[in-house]
Amino acid sequence: MYNILRSLLFTQDAEWSHEFTINTLKKLGGTGFDFLYQQTLRDKPVECFGLQFKNPVGLAAGLDKNGECIDAFAAMGFGFIEVGTVTPRPQPGNDKPRIFRLPEAHAIINRMGFNNHGVDYLVENVKAAKYDGILGINIGKNKDTPEENAKDDYLHCLDKVYEHASYVTVNISSPNTPGLRNLQYGDALNELLGSIKERQGELAQQYHKQVPILVKIAPDMSDEETQQVAETLIANQIEGVIATNTTLARDKVAHLQHGNEMGGLSGVPVRQQSTHVVRTLKQALEGKIPVVGVGGINSAESAREKLDAGAKLVQVYTGFIYRGPKLVKEIVNSL
Ligand SMILES: Cc1cc2nc3c(=O)[nH]c(=O)nc-3n(C[C@H](O)[C@H](O)[C@H](O)COP(=O)(O)O)c2cc1C
Repeated sequence: MYNILRSLLFTQDAEWSHEFTINTLKKLGGTGFDFLYQQTLRDKPVECFGLQFKNPVGLAAGLDKNGECIDAFAAMGFGFIEVGTVTPRPQPGNDKPRIFRLPEAHAIINRMGFNNHGVDYLVENVKAAKYDGILGINIGKNKDTPEENAKDDYLHCLDKVYEHASYVTVNISSPNTPGLRNLQYGDALNELLGSIKERQGELAQQYHKQVPILVKIAPDMSDEETQQVAETLIANQIEGVIATNTTLARDKVAHLQHGNEMGGLSGVPVRQQSTHVVRTLKQALEGKIPVVGVGGINSAESAREKLDAGAKLVQVYTGFIYRGPKLVKEIVNSL
């Protein structure tokens, strides 16, 4: 059924299709109409960051930025769901068009720019959801917050979401917020993570709940840079790392229509690069911090590649757009 729906959606503008789908799922989620996409999958339990996952296949951040469809995605059988990226204040994101399909490459280029309704709206949606599985909340900074004050935005979001999240992801790897990726390096990363861990300690006492902090990184780093990130994650006792976000590389798609659009490239063309970062991280982290592998997963085999490279969990976004809920089933059944 998803193949028919996809053929129809792909005749429409990419962002219109996205909004249409989110609005529809928002209405259907948690109602009797869930049967349209519901899948009951066998449990493939995984323990990670002290949390119990019913299976290791998650929804990656950015699809449900405002946490509006949590129950609908839960019905599809995901082992965990990550909502966001959310920022302290609502913001419109970049000018449209800002999302492009590259069907020949099973890829997407996006420059959304953290369009979202703000952290308070997301928290209300999370509170209203019936889902009681693992929920990650991915946090970022507003575009108009100066780089030197970025930390305040992350701490503001952390304060707001802590109580409601199974884990919180610190997103410092979107290519579409100017200067954001600078936070991945050197003192900037160390200071940011130090402040976040300090606040995590305070919030843990306040809520009597230890919520793991994950950091999401870009695929566009040298091995030395990845190793430095790993050292900083260990030094700050970060609980997990998500590798990777979208890439700025265009070598595999430059010849295609939309292949040179600005933004982050996702899907099959980022697969190898992401797997390489997972493998490099796995070695550099010496098993001390679990890795979540994401980038170009569109089959059981590509999920297996990430797990073999050292990932404990995986996430999907672009592959899910192209293949629909059956991708989750295919991966979980293969494990
Ligand atoms: C349209 C779009 C929007 C995205 N928005 C976010 C986001 O808000 N926050 C984030 O951490 N990652 C975001 N991502 C990145 C994905 O979560 C994922 O890391 C990346 O696309 C690689 O996985 P994939 O090849 O399975 O898509 C976005 C990706 C796409 C395609």
